[in-house]
Amino acid sequence: MIRLFHLSLPLLLSLLAACSLQAVTPSSPTAPARIAAETLGDPHSYAEPEAFRTRHLSLDLRVDVQRRVLSGTAELQLQRMDAKAGTLVLDTRDLEIAAVEAGTANALRATTYTLGPRDAVLGRPLRIAMPAGADRVRIRYATRPEASGLQWLNAAQTADRKLPFLFTQSQTIHARSWIPLQDTPQLRITYDARIRTPKNLLAVMSAENDLQARRTGDYRFRMPQPVPSYLLALAVGDLQFRALGPRTGIYAERSVLAAAAAEFSDTEKMLARSEALYGPYRWGRYDLLILPPSFPYGGMENPRLTFASPSVIAGDKSLVSLVAHELAHSWSGNLVTNAVWRDFWLNEGFTNHLSFRIMEELYGRDRAQQERTLAANDLKDTLAVLTRDDDKTLAPDLNGRDPSDYVTDVPYERGALFLAYLEQKYGRTRFDAFLRGWFDRHAFTAVRSGDFVAYLDRELLSKYPGVVSLAKVNEWLYQPRMPADTPWPVSDAFKRVERARDAWLAGKLAADRMGTASWSPAQWRYFLDTLPATLSLDQLTDLDEGFGLTHTGNAVVAARWLRLALANDYPPVYPAVDAFLNRHGRMLLITPIYEQLARSEDGLEFAREIYDVARTAYHPIAREAVEKILAAPVVDHAGTPAVEAEPATAPKRRPADIAKSLRPARHPFQRADGVGTGD
Ligand code: BES
Ligand code: ZN
Repeated sequence: MIRLFHLSLPLLLSLLAACSLQAVTPSSPTAPARIAAETLGDPHSYAEPEAFRTRHLSLDLRVDVQRRVLSGTAELQLQRMDAKAGTLVLDTRDLEIAAVEAGTANALRATTYTLGPRDAVLGRPLRIAMPAGADRVRIRYATRPEASGLQWLNAAQTADRKLPFLFTQSQTIHARSWIPLQDTPQLRITYDARIRTPKNLLAVMSAENDLQARRTGDYRFRMPQPVPSYLLALAVGDLQFRALGPRTGIYAERSVLAAAAAEFSDTEKMLARSEALYGPYRWGRYDLLILPPSFPYGGMENPRLTFASPSVIAGDKSLVSLVAHELAHSWSGNLVTNAVWRDFWLNEGFTNHLSFRIMEELYGRDRAQQERTLAANDLKDTLAVLTRDDDKTLAPDLNGRDPSDYVTDVPYERGALFLAYLEQKYGRTRFDAFLRGWFDRHAFTAVRSGDFVAYLDRELLSKYPGVVSLAKVNEWLYQPRMPADTPWPVSDAFKRVERARDAWLAGKLAADRMGTASWSPAQWRYFLDTLPATLSLDQLTDLDEGFGLTHTGNAVVAARWLRLALANDYPPVYPAVDAFLNRHGRMLLITPIYEQLARSEDGLEFAREIYDVARTAYHPIAREAVEKILAAPVVDHAGTPAVEAEPATAPKRRPADIAKSLRPARHPFQRADGVGTGD
């Protein structure tokens, strides 16, 4: 029996209407995907799946690195859902539409079209007149240099500094800024592409890549498995390939290839362990692409080709859980996809749970527990600062909002803790099998939270009565407070850190006696994350001089240390802060530091000076995030503006001046015009 939860009257009505549209059920990976009944209506797309559904996309694009433009055609093969439909609506953002043709396979004719008004979040709907019987359109178009889903880098902003680079980042709703399409995760398409580039560059896509491709400047791709639009991806650069195992390998610029191959040498093993847990890997190859440092995320699960930030190459495999995470998306997310962004936890919460399981299989329980605990602590911090109760739940209302605004620890960690809770209740063996069944049963479809609850009810709740109630499930999904019986993880390795930390803070133990020689980077992170907010200059100096934290090569540890040191006004880190914000473009690393700086007037001024230079290398969405921080009045947790909370004191030296006097700022990213200071 399927129970209907939280269904409003309009939703119920659309559910009834949907029954008549439920004609297509997947029989093979390439068959059209089912859309779950509840899913109709994606508030983040103008597409009308009741009228037409795209089944296949053919791209033919030229990459102009000088003008920063992609131009060419996108041809969409459609399934008519409504025989009478006379208009096809596509999503676009900042695209220049040159011409549109509609018709059938061999008979395309010019047709009329209109572009609606621009919505700040959604972009512009492209409405195309469809003659009777037409099931195909071809759009000739070009992108704008500032397209939100593209980043164009000049040679100086790459690792090798020789040739320009381009990469896409389509999640969540940026595919529409480089392809006119139905940009909703409810629909899946296969695709093929012809990409023409300057001869010395290589193009790769989230598709079958030819590992032996010669540099011809003319590349062809085929993606036989149907994917949602946010997984369309392209990168163009001076890339080399190196195999890691029979099904795995790495693309990177020459100067990072060896380090990347060493760091991620466990990838083939990870793939095998993941399959043992969750069923066959259905995408053929699994390769990694290491991007230039301005890649705004740690990683992006583009099918067959995970995009990764070079900041995860720590030299000691300490950040490889990122690969476990992106690989796990091959089941949770890419195979079974959130139908609307509101259900993002079905992608990310599941994936986090899977990645902890994979890490545990590969590196043991101790390490997995450390990572679980760090993640859970991040969630606690996030819950403490989120102002909207709805954003603390697993089903926030995102109508009218940019779905990327909900990319917080909540869907990731609350989602993972929910699954850990279920695992604890039903036992690991049974729960692993349950998840595998979820993926098999829903492969190549889009799902909503209600689908999961119905499946959970059928496969576990009702089968084993009296273990977990439906009310408890609803509490996990819809209540802002974390349930009282949340299985907060505990780590023995962190207990040891706590003891050393407390003794050191109490002045009973010298820093060099804390036993840090054997600490993992995760233990360092835990130590830094759990220090009191206020530390003395002596304590900071003790740590910095004892352990060289200001110059650690682990970007995640460095980010935490720099923020802590800034919060305590520790001047020796100012030049390192400047360098760090110029070296990295990954949002998770840089935004907490900008936020910390923005808490004081001097800090804000320093931040603006740094940003002025660094911004040229930041991705459009990273710029947007930093600009929001630098523009907004900073409010501390108690709700008082932090700038006013500063006591009036004698004029201090400005951080920017101190930074300059301590060490000339170095800018490994150069300016867009190439006149940066260099590294
Ligand atoms: N799919 C996400 C990245 C993403 C989320 C891009 C939302 C755009 C919008 C990716 O799988 C991810 O979660 N990356 C994390 C990795 C971490 C959790 C290991 C990141 O980038 O930090
Ligand atoms: Zn993810």
